[in-house]
Amino acid sequence: MLVVDNLTVRYSGILALQEVSIEVKKGETVLLVGSNGAGKSSLINTVIGLVPSASGRIVLNGKDISAVSCSARAQLGIGYSPEGRRVFSSLTVRENILSSTQGIPISTARENLAWIEKTFPLLAERANQPANQLSGGEQQIVAIARAVSRMPKLLLLDEPFLGLAPVWIGRVSETIRELQRRGTTILMTEQMARPALKLVDRAYIMRNGLVRRSGTVAEIRDSALAEEYL
Ligand SMILES: Nc1ncnc2c1ncn2[C@@H]1O[C@H](COP(=O)(O)OP(=O)(O)OP(=O)(O)O)[C@@H](O)[C@H]1O
Ligand SMILES: [Mg+2]
Repeated sequence: MLVVDNLTVRYSGILALQEVSIEVKKGETVLLVGSNGAGKSSLINTVIGLVPSASGRIVLNGKDISAVSCSARAQLGIGYSPEGRRVFSSLTVRENILSSTQGIPISTARENLAWIEKTFPLLAERANQPANQLSGGEQQIVAIARAVSRMPKLLLLDEPFLGLAPVWIGRVSETIRELQRRGTTILMTEQMARPALKLVDRAYIMRNGLVRRSGTVAEIRDSALAEEYL
């Protein structure tokens, strides 16, 4: 579904990604794991079109989308939940979820919302509450729900466990599993390898803008856990 081919990203002199290649197949959940500054967010942000690449290609379902705008990429079926769960704090939970549905028919947006609120009862219970009254874990679930409000084919989750207590890591994991059951293809990043490895099929270990190793969870488990403590 997604091929990132020889991607290089620079921020005025700083080399954030150096000829990185990864692949995510339809129906898979793939993890990018690595410590601070490894280049995980740079990769995700280049896939959604927020950060320009210096060279390389982003290919979605066989189509080179490297030159396609952010909003057009969303329309092609890419959903995104940013690092640090940036919810709109003064909007209600339901308004947050619906804020990503511009451009799709209102009936589809309503159907999607109904599925989301049925599948994640917390979001129905809190529908009319301002997002800033929610806990960090609850806000993370709102951020994921916003990312899936268009029912994307490919969902990008940037550090969904960041700053969460274990009980909320568990609940966010359950949210991700529910989306997997629905057939969503997922690319996620994490510094916390242990809970992330429970959710994914394969992983890429990143360090200093490079992919160091990749493989199935069984193949890279020990190296990924070691990376957690760097
Ligand atoms: N907007 C920016 N301007 C300049 N340098 C940046 C910018 N964003 C990231 N970098 C640099 O690019 C490199 C990769 O950073 P990136 O945020 O992609 O890593 P990360 O793996 O997501 O790290 P973290 O786990 O801390 O989120 C780092 O050296 C970082 O300092
Ligand atoms: Mg990051």
